[in-house]
Amino acid sequence: MGIEGHKVEPRSQEFVIPQEVMLGPGQQLFDFAARCLSEFLDALPVGNQGLQLGFSFSFPCHQTGLDKSTLISWTKGFRCSGVEGQDVVQLLRDAIQRQGTYSIDVVAVVNDTVGTMMGCEPGVGPCEVGLVVDTGTNACYMEEARHVAVLDEDRGRVCISVEWGSFSDDGALGPVLTIFDRTLDHESLNLGAQRFEKMIGGLYLGELVRLVLAHLARCGVLFGGYTSPALLRQGGILLEHVAEMEDPSAGAARVHAILQDLGLNPRASDAEFVQHVCAAVCTRAAQLCAAALAAVLSRLQHSREQQTLQIAVATGGRVFERHPRFLSILQETVMLLAPECDVSFIPSVDGGGQGVAMVTAVAARLAAHRCLLEETLAPFRLTREQLAAVQAQMREAMAKGLQGEASSLRMLPTYIRDTPDGSERGDFLALDLGGTNFRVLLVRVATGGVQITSQIYSIPECVAQGSGQQLFDHIVDCIVDFQEKQGLSGQSLPLGFTFSFPCMQLGLDQGILLNWTKGFNASDCEGQDVVCLLREAIGRRQAVELNVVAIVNDTVGTMMSCGYEDPHCEVGLIVELEVCGSLEGDWELLEHSVWHREMLERGRPRLLCELTTGWSNSRVQQTCLELAVCWGEEGKAFTQGTGTNACYMEELRNVASVAGDSGHMCINMEWGAFGDDGSLSMLSTCFDASVDQASINPGKQRFEKMISGMYLGEIVRHTLLHLTSLGVLFRGQQTQRLQTRDIFKTKFLSEIESDSLALRQVRAILEDLGLSLTSDDALMVLEVCQAVSQRAAQLCGAGVAAVVEKIRENRGLEELTVSVGVDGTLYKLHPHFSSLVAATVRELAPRCVVTFLQSEDGSGKGAALVTAVACRLAQMTCV
Ligand code: BG6
Ligand code: GLC
Ligand code: GLC
Repeated sequence: MGIEGHKVEPRSQEFVIPQEVMLGPGQQLFDFAARCLSEFLDALPVGNQGLQLGFSFSFPCHQTGLDKSTLISWTKGFRCSGVEGQDVVQLLRDAIQRQGTYSIDVVAVVNDTVGTMMGCEPGVGPCEVGLVVDTGTNACYMEEARHVAVLDEDRGRVCISVEWGSFSDDGALGPVLTIFDRTLDHESLNLGAQRFEKMIGGLYLGELVRLVLAHLARCGVLFGGYTSPALLRQGGILLEHVAEMEDPSAGAARVHAILQDLGLNPRASDAEFVQHVCAAVCTRAAQLCAAALAAVLSRLQHSREQQTLQIAVATGGRVFERHPRFLSILQETVMLLAPECDVSFIPSVDGGGQGVAMVTAVAARLAAHRCLLEETLAPFRLTREQLAAVQAQMREAMAKGLQGEASSLRMLPTYIRDTPDGSERGDFLALDLGGTNFRVLLVRVATGGVQITSQIYSIPECVAQGSGQQLFDHIVDCIVDFQEKQGLSGQSLPLGFTFSFPCMQLGLDQGILLNWTKGFNASDCEGQDVVCLLREAIGRRQAVELNVVAIVNDTVGTMMSCGYEDPHCEVGLIVELEVCGSLEGDWELLEHSVWHREMLERGRPRLLCELTTGWSNSRVQQTCLELAVCWGEEGKAFTQGTGTNACYMEELRNVASVAGDSGHMCINMEWGAFGDDGSLSMLSTCFDASVDQASINPGKQRFEKMISGMYLGEIVRHTLLHLTSLGVLFRGQQTQRLQTRDIFKTKFLSEIESDSLALRQVRAILEDLGLSLTSDDALMVLEVCQAVSQRAAQLCGAGVAAVVEKIRENRGLEELTVSVGVDGTLYKLHPHFSSLVAATVRELAPRCVVTFLQSEDGSGKGAALVTAVACRLAQMTCV
């Protein structure tokens, strides 16, 4: 690149490959290439560092990347051992390294036809075909990506190397083959292969002429019936000879001279005959080549639905260079066979070298981008040691928190001393506040199991962030509405309140809100007993009687509800994902996205199922519309569930703030705040810092912000912004969309990472977000999503490992069998999250056998069970 713009200054040197190298061991061939390369570079003013090489390798290969190409089989005059089935780029890299003089990176490999096409200036139309007739023959062209099955693409075009040399290896051209073609094939290195090439390629034209001339001599038609050793020796007549003799301007004298050079004794009439043979062989070659090219061109014309296809074909190879007539026959025949194509033939200037350099430059840019991507994502990729350190820090913070010492883990006692024993019975009300949805539930615990009826209510943003009184009045209104709908008015059922925020509990029915988390910020609540606030609101609304028995964190509810089925369940875990946003807007996604539908069928349906039976699309739509209506005028639901947290059964003797030495107590860890004392700062990336700064509670809930909910989408968005500023993504163009906070909903992570999605669907999803991107972009976005959610799952796993190891050590067990009850949309719906959590736990807590139970109707049911246990105990006390 000079000041005047693009300028290509090719230098080149040719080396003849000795035949024994072409037929010897592969290593020898690549060593030869590396040696030639050094020799060439020695004579040039280039340093020996950081050179980037493009490799034109003209044999049939399976290419799986710009720099990855496996040789299928040798063609033409080559048959080196140990190369077929190998990646030729790697073989060349190894040879260059063995040579040791230059440090060169092989960044791209292309077929010669591709180099020819890429280096060509457009003619009347764009140059979209490369045609080579050298020792062998082949063509490449730009195919519509949607026609290429192995590609995960539906737009754009991709260059296809036809490898037409092997056309008719299945016998399609049988009737056209002559006895000479059969003999030539028999004597060739690759019997039965490249049958089409063997009628066209320069390596074979001389040979075909020789076989015909020898036959005619033997029949006595030529040379007085005499032959010569050259005429009988394979390779005795070369392309050069044929080209020269066939040239109509070559006089009989010249033909004579050549034949004499071949040791023959031509008679006067022989020259004309020989010229005839040469012309016949070459004409057939050019016509066959034209037929193949016409097939390619009319395919292009059809698939592009153009009346006339204007196109340029780049030509390269010695047959074109030495054989002017070849091109003119080719042109004539193409015109005849594909009259609707207006073709200009453009000879390549430097044997395709410029095209190879072009591809190399592109590949080098992509490789540089990949490096930057890797660098950017490196801080997200945690090593086993880092995860073990998180586990150890968590253990330390747990111990301190339990002792009442300064710690980012509050380790709050819940006054729950036992998991259910199965004898609980009765009807209970439950409230569930702090997850994605606010729900009121009626829970019937009976001999046959637990039966739940529930309804979702909206908590508009203005209420969640308004006054406390307003919030609790709203809650009571919802309960009253629910009671009316369920015919429960006037009954005072025992009520359990799932309240998923950090509370300091002094008893089962006393919980002082320490601070709001997630999207809540109602005034005058922090420092207050939430049960009192609820009772006061009940009081304000006369004529309702409610008996609030217990307040429960969602983790505890989840553990309890799983514990009802599995007595080993002594841990509760929540990993939430925000879901709602505007349902109206989401409906579009509902329609388009597989994942969302799956979500409706597996996750939220607990909520939606109650309103629907049977899943027809229109029914889902109707339900959503209904919900949108009931969720506020603008159809806007407030997103709340963004947390992560865990609880577990601790030995009472370890809990400093509660009296007693025997038995257990469930501890609400409030692990979302882990690291708020700075202990996670080594792991925190600059993207985490940006997300934290922009949140409503900067500096708080640092662990939560690396694991759960909407934060992941924001981390991804910040990472993408950074990659864009480096020019790695979106061609370096910052879009308004990407700068919009929260556009990148965490659900897209699940959606994008879903294995069933093809890359082009990933791209469609991103385009839905208003981001226009190439497939390379889509792949990188996918990798960013994977890195961010993988870290989230691993950190979560490190936390669980700390908890189960603590339980094991508490009990002095060699091995602990324990179950973890889990809830939360991220955990349940992300395609890889749960398995990554489990794998991390296995790795970091090898002496614990941990089963993860997905809680169905988690904490609502749990709250009812806690209430049931409390009622049972109260009755026993009465008796
Ligand atoms: C539900 C619980 O089952 O799961 C909620 O009832 C809890 O209390 C929720 O917060 C967690 O999941 P999410 O992601 O839906 O908020
Ligand atoms: C052979 C090779 C092909 C190459 C052509 C021209 O047919 O298989 O890859 O393009 O020769 O060199
Ligand atoms: C937040 C809350 C916590 C809750 C979690 C999951 O971290 O502080 O109490 O358990 O979210 O909902």
